Amino acid sequence: MATGMSLTFLGIESSCDDTAAAVVTGDRRILSSVVFGQTALHADFGGVVPEIAARAHAEKLDICVEQALAQAGLRLADLDGIAVTAGPGLIGGVLSGVMLAKGLAAGTGLPLVGVNHLAGHALTPRLTDGVGFPYLMLLVSGGHCQFLRVDGPDDFTRLGGTIDDAPGEAFDKVAKLLGLPQPGGPAVERAARQGDPARFALPRPLLDRPGCDLSFSGLKTAVLRLRDDLVAAQGGLHQGDRADICAAFQRAVAEVLAEKTRRALALAPVPTLAVAGGVAANTALRHALEQVAGQAGARFVAPPLALCTDNGAMIAWAGIEAFAQGRRDGLDLAARPRWPLDRKAAPMLGAGKRGAKA
Ligand code: KG4
Ligand code: ZN
Repeated sequence: MATGMSLTFLGIESSCDDTAAAVVTGDRRILSSVVFGQTALHADFGGVVPEIAARAHAEKLDICVEQALAQAGLRLADLDGIAVTAGPGLIGGVLSGVMLAKGLAAGTGLPLVGVNHLAGHALTPRLTDGVGFPYLMLLVSGGHCQFLRVDGPDDFTRLGGTIDDAPGEAFDKVAKLLGLPQPGGPAVERAARQGDPARFALPRPLLDRPGCDLSFSGLKTAVLRLRDDLVAAQGGLHQGDRADICAAFQRAVAEVLAEKTRRALALAPVPTLAVAGGVAANTALRHALEQVAGQAGARFVAPPLALCTDNGAMIAWAGIEAFAQGRRDGLDLAARPRWPLDRKAAPMLGAGKRGAKA
């Protein structure tokens, strides 16, 4: 990046169930990154409860920001700007962050930049690996699932995405169906390691349809039916059944994502394929994507897990990129529950338990 190298930004994130703040520099140094999760608060409810999330953000945000500054060894006066997630997401949480950021900007006179949460994820490979434009981003988490061709800090083309659930949601629901702990992704991956992916045949949703759109809700229903059939036939599930179901499910998700990625790379033949989002932690998926990238002659970039999941550093970085392009927001910055990255694309269908997918 030619401009913005010497900038230092605070980034604030509160759009879902993580309260996060970080200090990042324009020359790609993460001086601090603090994340307070809320998993325990929502554990009894089978999903994120927006009111509980908003209250927890409001209670924790200022402590989170204080810790991020302390760990960076900086004061507010040392910063060049404040970036905050202004959407998309659960509106109560987004509002908490935006109000805090406005207060800090008004009190210090520092510039304020409202960041699109999805842009934060999508620009992360530039922070972690210095990836240049253009590149293809596959964003796969509990709330997001889309392919984006990234041509600039504010130039995104959505090539496809889920028409129903996000893949992380499907992992979480499959874990629930099988009595495995939440979050479901790591639990399903662990169980799958002992399983035989070939014992059960699960569908490969939307592979018969051209393009890069994805669907995961049918896969979840297929797992439900498989479980019920086994329980009816055997009177219960054995440990081996759980492992085999998890292995089959994980293989189905990885194969579908790999094939759609192949198509996305054919539509957008760029030098780099990057992933972000919690599901990008899945080893089977990473291997499948790495292979697809290799076959297409593209470099494969997967940021460290802590920067794949929700965090403040990606917001600070996206803020720096926007600021370097001349973007500033006033104290009238709005919190937006929906905010599509690609203004040319039709709005996406479906909104999962983690909030709007934009
Ligand atoms: O990005 P993230 O932390 O939060 C948002 O959804 O924004 O992603 C969390 C999701 C959860 O659904 C979780 O089950 C999934 O990522 N996940 C995984 C793995 N680790 C986390 N899914 C599959 N395999 C994993 N190893
Ligand atoms: Zn996210």
